[in-house]
Amino acid sequence: MRSITFATGNPKKAEEVRRILKPYGIEVDVAKVHKIEIQDENIERIAAFSARILSRRICKPLIVEDTGLFIDALKGFPGSYSAYVYRTIGLTGVLKLMEGIDDRDAVFRCVVAYCEPGGKPIVFKGEVRGRIAYEIRGDAGWGYDPIFEPEGYGKTYAELGVYKDEVSHRAEAFREFARWYIRSKNIV
Ligand code: IMP
Repeated sequence: MRSITFATGNPKKAEEVRRILKPYGIEVDVAKVHKIEIQDENIERIAAFSARILSRRICKPLIVEDTGLFIDALKGFPGSYSAYVYRTIGLTGVLKLMEGIDDRDAVFRCVVAYCEPGGKPIVFKGEVRGRIAYEIRGDAGWGYDPIFEPEGYGKTYAELGVYKDEVSHRAEAFREFARWYIRSKNIV
């Protein structure tokens, strides 16, 4: 079993990543360091910057993940500001912004950045299109899960529970990372 250090202060995220990487024989060692978040509209740059700085700081290879919910009718808002918007106006505030808007299309984007101390970050991406629900639904999730319906499911992530892993933006990005990690580190 190989392990990887994952820098996150979010235990729910860590739990999902553990479940996603387990079938690949990769254990997750959580470093409870706060991501160093630069302000940028591009979540790829945010994750890569943070991975580069933190891997140097803890003198170990690590991964950092950054996620954003991009709503088409709001021109991609909240995007890279998803954490701030969740903390401030929350789900009810986002639903209010969407009142009277029929175009509910949105996309969840996830970026995983892997970096070795002194090295260049390598980035893996996952993206799932879906819709913003008209109301909060489901109680198995966290963050925006109760208002995001992945395309073709008719249920929110919070209603899908652990089945979220089969379709999620996070699963797509981390599976891509896992395949690369196993190949490049010769894990058998
Ligand atoms: P961050 O990547 O931890 O900065 O997440 C940005 C915001 O999106 C936070 O408010 C998270 O709660 C939310 N978020 C991140 N990933 C997910 C997810 O898989 N489901 C629902 N909300 C998420």
